[in-house]
Amino acid sequence: MKIISSVSELEIFLSKASKDKSLGFVPTMGALHQGHISLVEKAISQNDMSLCSIFVNPTQFNDAKDLEKYPNQLDADLTLLEKTGCDVVFTPSKTEIYPEGFAGKSYDFGNLDKVMEGETRPGHFEGVALVVSRLFDIIRPQKAYFGEKDFQQLAIIRSLANQNYKSIEIIPCPILREVDGLAMSSRNLLLSEKHRTAAPRVYQRLLHVKKQANTKSISELKQWIAQEFKQDPDLKLEYFEISDPNRLQKSTQWSDYEVHIACIAVFAGSVRLIDNILLEMN
Ligand code: PAF
Repeated sequence: MKIISSVSELEIFLSKASKDKSLGFVPTMGALHQGHISLVEKAISQNDMSLCSIFVNPTQFNDAKDLEKYPNQLDADLTLLEKTGCDVVFTPSKTEIYPEGFAGKSYDFGNLDKVMEGETRPGHFEGVALVVSRLFDIIRPQKAYFGEKDFQQLAIIRSLANQNYKSIEIIPCPILREVDGLAMSSRNLLLSEKHRTAAPRVYQRLLHVKKQANTKSISELKQWIAQEFKQDPDLKLEYFEISDPNRLQKSTQWSDYEVHIACIAVFAGSVRLIDNILLEMN
């Protein structure tokens, strides 16, 4: 496994090594878990070469404290990637990604970055688009892999690719869960024992919503969710929305769309967790 930290070295390496080969790219912020590994495995199986980047992108953190405490375990990440069979790992510094005077292009994502995460984490998606487009420009992969846990991010990346990177195919990858249902996330490492015990209730409540979707109205289910979290001493609801999965327009009734996406953000102590579930109408 080749580990490269400089942009120029990576560009030279790729111009030779990936010539006439398909390249699959998995961008990450490290603290890798089985969810990331499933993306890397998919990239390996679908391409001649695989590349994973590890870069904790400061521009997507709207809260400095959140950035400070983001888990960092590069050695363990590299061991895991080596075992998986990843070909190249890109571990740039901040100045490699954002050299002095660097200015990225700005994008119009319509409604996609105005709701949910966009509303509660101002500037977050600008930062995500900035780093992903910088990485796409450097790496120029044929395919790039993103997890469905960050459902809204995936919608934004699809729009980014559609606007400026038409040759890159965006591959969505399903959420991986712990045995108790908690969606795998690097942030799970930061949960206290009490909050780790409470965290699976997020998915349990999403499952309840899915079960009830054909008998209860959207507003009844939103009220139910609000009430459940109000009574929960360990989990604080930030938002719960049911929307159309393509444009993320809020759904008002089930007949609005054939499929809806229910997205949730919750604080477990100081750790912010997000999750989602598709609701198919029948
Ligand atoms: O999903 C993530 O880990 C990050 O948002 C990404 C896509 C690697 C950009 O920093």
